[in-house]
Amino acid sequence: MTQLDEAGRQLRAAQSVLVLTGAGISTDSGIPDFRGPQGVWTKNPAAQAMFTIDRYVADPDVRRTSWLNRRDHPAWTAEPNPAHHALVAWERTGRLKAIATQNIDGLHQRAGSDPRRVLELHGTLWRAVCLSCGGVQPMASVIARVDAGEEDPPCLGCGGILKSATVSFGQSLDPLVLTAATDAARACDLVVAIGTSLQVYPAAGLCSVAVESGAHLVIVNAQPTGYDQLAAAVVREPIGAAVPALTGALEEVR
Ligand code: APR
Repeated sequence: MTQLDEAGRQLRAAQSVLVLTGAGISTDSGIPDFRGPQGVWTKNPAAQAMFTIDRYVADPDVRRTSWLNRRDHPAWTAEPNPAHHALVAWERTGRLKAIATQNIDGLHQRAGSDPRRVLELHGTLWRAVCLSCGGVQPMASVIARVDAGEEDPPCLGCGGILKSATVSFGQSLDPLVLTAATDAARACDLVVAIGTSLQVYPAAGLCSVAVESGAHLVIVNAQPTGYDQLAAAVVREPIGAAVPALTGALEEVR
């Protein structure tokens, strides 16, 4: 039995599935990951240190660079790929209860996943937030100001620093989102980690929460992770092929 066959067997046996996704599910959509062979941090290790909340607040140059990166982000032109669409099919079987995603690209929702079941652990690039008054607005309206020449646009309401509504290193996750994801991990009988190196916490820890609550773990990832030993199956095939191939297992009448 191949690892993909075993993953299918695990899905067939599952009643309640939690999927944890990372940047690897969006690379086929043209959005690079962080730690893969062509990853953002792989290519520019120094960049990761730059994108902490403290550096962002303290250094206008970091903010200026961040606004240019946001303006030019591939998420604006990316389309959901077959793996995103496969998870919509998994949801329709009634057994995929939640997708906890580390991604900020919004592609799960654009593929048709029920937004109520998509838990954006690291926030979203599609909205901007003021770090002073907490005001939230569509990212597009701030990008328009950047395009019009404002290099570091302040909040129009209070003059505070604006940022994408994403979670930077040094920032806490939204407690409501993290609680919902942790509850889903405790309640599931199978957690499937797709396209994540499982190196960033607390997201990666959801695998331990699920397994300690009695769930099985399946990993779909090209490179090894620190959780491979805990997994009932580790699928190395490309996500764009493996995840759609697993849909049949969930759709089989039980
Ligand atoms: N098929 C299979 N695996 C793939 C594919 C693919 N098409 N594309 C990428 N991968 C794998 C890579 O080998 C890598 O192990 O996906 C994994 C992505 O891991 P990371 O780049 O570390 O991304 P992720 O785990 O989501 O990072 C977590 O780190 O930088 C922060 O906030 C950022 O949310 C991000 C968090």
